[in-house]
Amino acid sequence: MKLLVTGGAGFIGSAVVRRAIALGHEVVNLDSLTYAANLENVAGVSSSNLYSFEQADIRDRARLDEIFATHRPDAVMHLAAESHVDRSIDGPGDFILTNINGTFNLLEAARGYWQRAGKPEGFRFHHISTDEVFGSLGEEGQFTEETPYDPRSPYSASKAASDHLVRAWHETYGLPVVLTNCSNNYGPFHFPEKLVPVVILNALHGRPIPVYGAGLNVRDWLYVEDHADALLTVVQRGQLGRSYNIGGENEARNIDLVRTICALMDEMHPAGAPHDRLITFVTDRPGHDARYAIDPKRIREELGWRPSVTLEQGLRKTVRWYLDNEAWWRPLLARQGVGQRLGTKA
Ligand SMILES: NC(=O)c1ccc[n+]([C@@H]2O[C@H](COP(=O)([O-])OP(=O)(O)OC[C@H]3O[C@@H](n4cnc5c(N)ncnc54)[C@H](O)[C@@H]3O)[C@@H](O)[C@H]2O)c1
Repeated sequence: MKLLVTGGAGFIGSAVVRRAIALGHEVVNLDSLTYAANLENVAGVSSSNLYSFEQADIRDRARLDEIFATHRPDAVMHLAAESHVDRSIDGPGDFILTNINGTFNLLEAARGYWQRAGKPEGFRFHHISTDEVFGSLGEEGQFTEETPYDPRSPYSASKAASDHLVRAWHETYGLPVVLTNCSNNYGPFHFPEKLVPVVILNALHGRPIPVYGAGLNVRDWLYVEDHADALLTVVQRGQLGRSYNIGGENEARNIDLVRTICALMDEMHPAGAPHDRLITFVTDRPGHDARYAIDPKRIREELGWRPSVTLEQGLRKTVRWYLDNEAWWRPLLARQGVGQRLGTKA
């Protein structure tokens, strides 16, 4: 299959690019290279003759038309987005422009290309979204594909809007779409402004490990390579017009996740142990959703996908990777906003 992957220089997109190429697919990586991107994430596959890169912004419609005409993909996997909730609180504008307007442009470019090609049945527009569109759960229950949308941050609202656009393009124009809504990812190549790499790197450097509020927020954690595998399963075998929730079946309170990482650091990097002495509770994020949990029954039963690692196994691999890959993360610490508390301007 020839895949046009947007956001392929980011965290999850690059995992998709690496996995797709390993499986023998052709990949066109379309990315504008924002602060969150890093072409080092795909350095391992960029010399493959299956790989090509287009630096392009999904807000630029004409450029998208050009890329579709040049590369003629069999499917689009749309991951390009502004993705950090804290940044969306301080500056929601970019989230509206990229996540909503950008998705609109990509849908229109894909629709034009698909119509000109005679509406091939096999074409797919796969929109990659988040479980955050469903809002916040209490202590019980899980998100299913039927859970009503109830986004509560500028980030999740912009993703929810893009999901609605994708469904509308299917209903109105017949564009062959599939959607996925996934829980929190972690793993190698995660930009060091997100919780898991922040904890690992602050523990490594003996710096305070910030935990929002009392650390009681619950997330359902998924190893990024398992997510990439799920996405490649859905784009090839997902039912037309359908959405699939993807979760790791690994719920954890933030404080427990942080303590697990600290214990792994004690074992793998004993200098500085016990690392949990660095845990520092800080003011909570405004509108911080209490709990997310995914019911992954549909993807498990229809497509036979399930995660390959437990949270403990995935975290162990992740900590090892950060300890072994300083050359990857060191330069990123100098990027704008990294290491600072963001999301306080509400
Ligand atoms: N990280 C998670 O836990 C998670 C969970 C569920 C869903 N998602 C979704 O998965 C997707 C990827 O998330 P991620 O964590 O890899 O994000 P990321 O921030 O690591 O990567 C996003 C990529 O998109 C690119 N990009 C941003 N704006 C662009 C634009 N206007 N034009 C072209 N490229 C642009 C960036 O340069 C970057 O390479 C997002 O759509 C996100 O909403 C993420």
